Amino acid sequence: MSKTALFYSPEGGNVNRVANKLGEMIGNDKVDIIPVKEVEKGDIQKYNKIILVGSTVGADHWNNEIVVDEWTEFFTKIMEISFEKKKVAIVGLGNCVLYPSHFVDGMADLYERITKQNAKILGFVDAKDYDFTDSEAVNDDGFFCGLPIDEDNEAELTTERLEKWIFILKSDFEF
Ligand SMILES: Cc1cc2nc3c(=O)[nH]c(=O)nc-3n(C[C@H](O)[C@H](O)[C@H](O)COP(=O)(O)O)c2cc1C
Repeated sequence: MSKTALFYSPEGGNVNRVANKLGEMIGNDKVDIIPVKEVEKGDIQKYNKIILVGSTVGADHWNNEIVVDEWTEFFTKIMEISFEKKKVAIVGLGNCVLYPSHFVDGMADLYERITKQNAKILGFVDAKDYDFTDSEAVNDDGFFCGLPIDEDNEAELTTERLEKWIFILKSDFEF
């Protein structure tokens, strides 16, 4: 069975911790957890199942093209690679109390960029399970384009949220 790649950024905080937790819960023999800045072109070609774990650090940051973050470098690297046969799912860290009108906006950015590569995106999550005002990551059907996690205010829900999400992805990702 082929492994799932779990690419995450940034390192050393909530994203890092949740990426490790997700890896443990799926089973460390089934995933390779790699910081996004270490991902090489060859890695992308190797994996057909990819989970991206990122955070939102402010709407300005995501809209400002001058800011070159690790994700921008990642998407530049993968520009010429077709994702047509790849399955991708996204986890987005955010804070629904301090940023209720921009809750996990960054997930939408990852979604848009990876959709341009023709990836098949899985793991949409019903927005009604979250308390927030607005988010760029919610589609017209009321679903987030991935799994939102709020470690700042709802850390006690993280394990259950990850569990349910792993279940949703189970058959497609062959966990
Ligand atoms: C400067 C700054 C801006 C943030 N902006 C947002 C935001 O717009 N929306 C959101 O949901 N969370 C926002 N957050 C919350 C982070 O996404 C959240 O704390 C996340 O868990 C941080 O992950 P990390 O510890 O790996 O960096 C912001 C945090 C910081 C420090």
